[in-house]
Amino acid sequence: MPAKLISGKEIAQQIREELKQEVEDLKTKHNVVPGLVTILVGENPASVSYVTAKQKTAHGLGFNSIQDTQPEDLSEADLLALVEKYNNDPAIHGILVQLPLPKHVNETKVLYAIDPDKDVDGFHPVNVGKLMIGEAVFLPCTPAGIQQMLIRSGVETSGAEVCVVGRSNIVGKPIANIMIQKQEGANSTVTLCHTRTKNMKEHTLRADILIVAAGVPKAVTADMVKDGAVVIDVGVNRIGKTESGKAILCGDVDFEPIKEKASMITPVPGGVGPMTITMLMLNTVKAAKLANGLL
Ligand code: GUN
Repeated sequence: MPAKLISGKEIAQQIREELKQEVEDLKTKHNVVPGLVTILVGENPASVSYVTAKQKTAHGLGFNSIQDTQPEDLSEADLLALVEKYNNDPAIHGILVQLPLPKHVNETKVLYAIDPDKDVDGFHPVNVGKLMIGEAVFLPCTPAGIQQMLIRSGVETSGAEVCVVGRSNIVGKPIANIMIQKQEGANSTVTLCHTRTKNMKEHTLRADILIVAAGVPKAVTADMVKDGAVVIDVGVNRIGKTESGKAILCGDVDFEPIKEKASMITPVPGGVGPMTITMLMLNTVKAAKLANGLL
């Protein structure tokens, strides 16, 4: 039987409905409006499309949301000053600097500059460290979205063999970290594979839950997947354009044959992508509550 599709679109919609109610309550009961700024440097087409989607969602939820677009040649010092300005702005609860940044800017330095209490991406070392010790405040958005998809799809994670393919700071490392925690929706045994892993198939074939964030189209093929596994495809690869100029996307797993083997699988698009944006909204609401002593 073909795998059940895990619709990130539907689960994200459900979480957004919950958030909408929370935002209304914050406004009416506490006079608090969650504030989010998304900072985009340059015109990387993927980044433009992500940031536009984030802004649209934030507006839809009734946030005070600001898009701050800066030229590609913005200096590192000016970007750091901009971050500092928003660190000091009480109407802004969440700051997101869209990655990647232009080559002349030190990404780490910029991420370190964001106030950890406004770090709704969960990339600041303080928040990375808190996650590591089971005290997370802001989970990075894509991994948080993956965990929510597993929880809300009724996937048993406790004691499950989880195999993560990819060791990025944005997805691979944090999702591995999340899944090992002694917490609901985690408690898994985690293997993390990367470009230097010997015989990757040996590891992926053991996985009850296979999470692929390799950044390579069809990096995982059907022979690497155990029968009945839950497959989460984080890849967003632009493999061409339609006649109308819309990007054609594919994931990191060979979807069609794997669908015949897996018990559940996420599609691309409509899988992890919408969850990432929604978890950013959730983190921003949380930041607004924290800033106002409501948590
Ligand atoms: N670039 C790709 N994914 C992300 C993300 O989750 N946050 C930021 N800031 N940049 C990204």
